[in-house]
Amino acid sequence: MSQELSMPAIKKTAWIDGHRLRLRQADVEDASFIFNLRQHPLRNQHMSATSPRPEDQIQWLERYALDNSQAYFVIEAKENPGHPPRAGGSQLLGTVRLYDARALSFCWGSWMLLPDAPPFTAIESALIVYRYALELGFRSAHFEVQQGNLAVCRFHENFGAVRVGEDAGQIQYTLDHERILESLHRYRRFLPAGIKRAPFIH
Ligand SMILES: CC(C)(COP(=O)(O)OP(=O)(O)OC[C@H]1O[C@@H](n2cnc3c(N)ncnc32)[C@H](O)[C@@H]1OP(=O)(O)O)[C@@H](O)C(=O)NCCC(=O)NCCS
Repeated sequence: MSQELSMPAIKKTAWIDGHRLRLRQADVEDASFIFNLRQHPLRNQHMSATSPRPEDQIQWLERYALDNSQAYFVIEAKENPGHPPRAGGSQLLGTVRLYDARALSFCWGSWMLLPDAPPFTAIESALIVYRYALELGFRSAHFEVQQGNLAVCRFHENFGAVRVGEDAGQIQYTLDHERILESLHRYRRFLPAGIKRAPFIH
C-alpha cells in the first residue's frame, strides 16, 4: 500500500504573536516603512538591491498579496518600554519573509531590523519564524547569506546552521530539524510561551 505524504506549504496569516513581538502580515500600507528600511544605508549593504522608486515597493506588495507561496511580515513591538509608540499605531521594527518551500524545507530571509530595534528583536523574530514553520509542517530550513555579512553568518551558525555551498557571493546554509528544536529549547527564554497566531489565510 502506498502512502502519499502531503508536503507542507507556506501559508499566510494576519499575525503571529511571540513574547514581546508581533509579526503582522505586510500590506501595501507598509510600503513606505519597507521602502525606507530597504534603502537604509546602515542596513542594506548585504541585501539584494531593491528599486529606488517608492511606487515599485507598492507594486511589489500588491503582487505579494496575490502570491500564495510566501508569507511576508513586518515585525512590530507588542510593547516597547522606553520607546513611544508610533503615531497612530504600533512600533514597526523590521521585516521577515518565508518563501521557497522545497519539500520539508523552507527558506526565510528579507530579514532586516531598524538599527535601534531592541536587542532581543533578532533572536525572538528568528524563533517565531521557526515555530511558525514547524506549525506549517516544515522540518528544516535553507537560506543564503552574503559573503562578508559576518554577524549574520555568526547568528545563524549559533543556531546550528551548516554551510553547504557558496555561489555568486552567497553562502548557502541549511538547518536541520534537530538543530531547530535544540535552538528553540536553548533560547526558550526569548519565547517562553511559544506563539499564538491568527488562522491561516489559505
Ligand atoms: C540581520 C539582522 C536582522 C539581525 O539583527 P541584529 O540585531 O543585527 O542581530 P544580532 O546578531 O546583533 O543580535 C542582536 C542581539 O541579540 C543577541 N544575540 C544574538 N544571537 C544570540 C544568541 N544566539 N543568544 C543570545 N543572544 C543573542 C546579540 O548578542 C545582540 O545583543 P547585543 O546587541 O546586546 O550585542 C540585522 O543585522 C539587519 O537588519 N541586518 C541588515 C540586513 C541583513 O543583512 N539581513 C540578513 C540578510 S541574510
